[in-house]
Amino acid sequence: MNCSRLHHLVLIFSCLHVVVSLSVQQETGFVYNGFHQADLLYIDGLARVLPDGLLQLTNDSDFKMGHAFFNLPFDFDHTISFYTHFVCALAPLQLGASGGHGMAFVVSPSIDLSHALQAQYLGAFTTSANGTSPSQLIAIELDTIESLGIDVLEKPHVGIDVNNATSIESSLPSYFSSALGKNVSINLLSGLPVQVWVDYDGSSLNVTLAPVDIQKPDQPLMSRPIDLSENFKNKMFVGFSAATGQLTSNQYILGWSFSRSKELLQKLDLSKLPQAPLPRNETEQPPPLPRDETEQPPPLLSPPLIGLVVLSVILALLVLGAVYWYRRNKYAEVKEPWEKEYGPHRFSYKSLYRATNGFGKDCCVGKGGFGDVYRGTLPLSRHIAVKRLSHNAEQGMKQFVSEVVTMGSLQHRNLVPLLGYCRRKGELLLVSEYMPNGSLDQYLFHHDQNSSPSWLQRISILKDIASALNYLHTGANQVVLHRDIKSSNVMLDSDFNGRLGDFGMARFHDPRACLSATAAVGTIGYMAPELITMGTSTETDVYAFGAFLLEVTCGRRPVEPELPVERQYLVKWVCVCWKQASLLETVDPRLGRETLFKEVEMVLKLGLLCTNAIPEARPTMGQVVQYLNMDLTLPDFSLSTPGIGAFMPVSMERSSSSISASNSRSTSIPMFVTHTILRGSGR
Ligand SMILES: *[C@@H]1O[C@H](CO)[C@@H](O)[C@H](O)[C@H]1NC(C)=O
Ligand SMILES: *[C@@H]1O[C@H](CO)[C@@H](O)[C@H](O)[C@H]1NC(C)=O
Ligand SMILES: *[C@@H]1O[C@H](CO)[C@@H](O)[C@H](O)[C@H]1NC(C)=O
Ligand SMILES: *[C@@H]1O[C@H](CO)[C@@H](O)[C@H](O)[C@H]1NC(C)=O
Ligand SMILES: *[C@@H]1O[C@H](CO)[C@@H](O)[C@H](O)[C@H]1NC(C)=O
Ligand SMILES: *[C@@H]1O[C@H](CO)[C@@H](O)[C@H](O)[C@H]1NC(C)=O
Repeated sequence: MNCSRLHHLVLIFSCLHVVVSLSVQQETGFVYNGFHQADLLYIDGLARVLPDGLLQLTNDSDFKMGHAFFNLPFDFDHTISFYTHFVCALAPLQLGASGGHGMAFVVSPSIDLSHALQAQYLGAFTTSANGTSPSQLIAIELDTIESLGIDVLEKPHVGIDVNNATSIESSLPSYFSSALGKNVSINLLSGLPVQVWVDYDGSSLNVTLAPVDIQKPDQPLMSRPIDLSENFKNKMFVGFSAATGQLTSNQYILGWSFSRSKELLQKLDLSKLPQAPLPRNETEQPPPLPRDETEQPPPLLSPPLIGLVVLSVILALLVLGAVYWYRRNKYAEVKEPWEKEYGPHRFSYKSLYRATNGFGKDCCVGKGGFGDVYRGTLPLSRHIAVKRLSHNAEQGMKQFVSEVVTMGSLQHRNLVPLLGYCRRKGELLLVSEYMPNGSLDQYLFHHDQNSSPSWLQRISILKDIASALNYLHTGANQVVLHRDIKSSNVMLDSDFNGRLGDFGMARFHDPRACLSATAAVGTIGYMAPELITMGTSTETDVYAFGAFLLEVTCGRRPVEPELPVERQYLVKWVCVCWKQASLLETVDPRLGRETLFKEVEMVLKLGLLCTNAIPEARPTMGQVVQYLNMDLTLPDFSLSTPGIGAFMPVSMERSSSSISASNSRSTSIPMFVTHTILRGSGR
């Protein structure tokens, strides 16, 4: 109950509200500064409200009309007076052309003028000929056509019409300028906005015109004493009517204020009014005035087209930017000032990228723990091998590069020539000559039995490497250590000559290892026992070469954890066999009958001599070369000679205990040892 009563109350209140707001509107009138929110507007015919708030009454469709009314009637019971101020713009398609037909402010008893005629009747009037009831309305017309017989003035004019399209009074459009003290004519068909005031106080009807930038003139254009009480019914609607005939115009209302009383007429805010499109000015050939430029749409490109063009330009720029960024990153290098002197040895990443087919899979010839090796072809069909080493160690890089470059300058027929390098972020690329026959360890361990190198090949390769190492130790301007002699670092050129490669590369095995030249690194089985505590020296290289001699002769790696304990360590096993007077048992069983066993025995003993645990007791590389060439006979030694066969394998337990006693720069060793043992057992 309560609920429904409340409902009733609300209903009554809302009805009251409507009545009150209506009466308020009747008292005060209304104002439209543009027609954005024109909810109380009735429109028909061609009339429509454009998105920018412009009320368009007609477009250039011919013989049409359009109406727009405030859709609440005004009560003219007691006083018959009204005041209105509106801004309109009448624009023919082309400037200077005739336009048609015009528009009118109308006060009409009916909102429905659909029976009216277009063209000169302005969509407001009918003719008596057809027997339809004559129109009962007052119109203030802005006629833009040289009317045919209806009107006195055969030019665009302003007129007052009462129930008949023939004006009772008309005048050429003009305004009185008090500043100039004279009448100034107005071109109704310029498309520029024109202000119109219509004032009726019950006895006289004044019509005043002015351009939009001029205040309401003191003198009206027309002032007509007239009694409209006969014509006014109780309720009258106010609005606009416009029509086109054979000739057409775009006819717009920009803003409109209306009131029953002069005092309460609300001011139009001219700055808020929408802008009506101007007619085309086809007579202009020279560059248009600045005003035209801003107000007329550019003739070549419509706004959506401009948007499209701008969008595609932005898109193109983005794509170009992305391509530039991508290429920049793709080929980005790291270059530091100190590298200037190594300029000739520096390769651009782009050239290496091109040479190796973008480091493609088909160019990858080897995968190591430190990086992949790619085969490539530079212009002039120079074949290269590119080793990509990833590293995080910027420290020591300068020294390393200088060493690499130094090695590049070493000339020996048994060295793999290093051509240069390239640096990128976190990556170093080393470029060397391409060795078509790969590395020796592939022949020793990975090829089938039959293709394993013969003794003659092996001893020749051993001599090659000994000579190369001797050159590194004594022949160059400075002592150069190799640090990682082993069969996988011995390359074979097209003539099957042995060539020593991968200088100093061992330092890349451990990603955390610093690149300092004194860092203790190598491969297990080839590492001299003193290496961890004393660092690298020519003696540690000799030790590794001794292990390599045994490796090549016996056809097995220095340490093979899978074998029975007594055979795991090659040096030890060779000693055991020598003790049992069966030294040749250790020799690679794949070696054929042409093998010179005297030579083999000498090489095995030389291997033991080189792997002597006491560094000072090892021969120099120069002596080794002489021994191998039989220019010098081996010194007399036996298993009881100090250091011989005293192989102390650098096992994990041992190395870690020796590490703890060693200096701080070798902290990376335990990890390295683990790493190589795992790699060794993986094979
Ligand atoms: C004029 O307006 C009417 C109604 O909005 C539309 O159907 C017609 O196509 C328009 N004519 C031209 C020439 O723009
Ligand atoms: C309008 O006025 C003209 C001229 O005075 C007259 O010929 C015509 O009949 C009138 N039309 C109507 C509908 O009264
Ligand atoms: C009025 O009569 C004329 C000629 O008789 C005719 O052309 C016109 O269409 C008629 N108009 C209306 C609204 O009936
Ligand atoms: C201006 O025009 C009005 C109406 O057309 C006329 O009464 C008035 O005399 C004119 N004034 C001048 C200065 O020409
Ligand atoms: C019309 O203009 C005349 C002359 O300027 C003036 O006396 C009269 O009051 C005006 N009437 C209205 C309704 O403004
Ligand atoms: C139209 O173009 C002509 C010739 O260029 C120029 O003189 C005239 O001022 C222009 N009209 C408008 C309204 O800009």
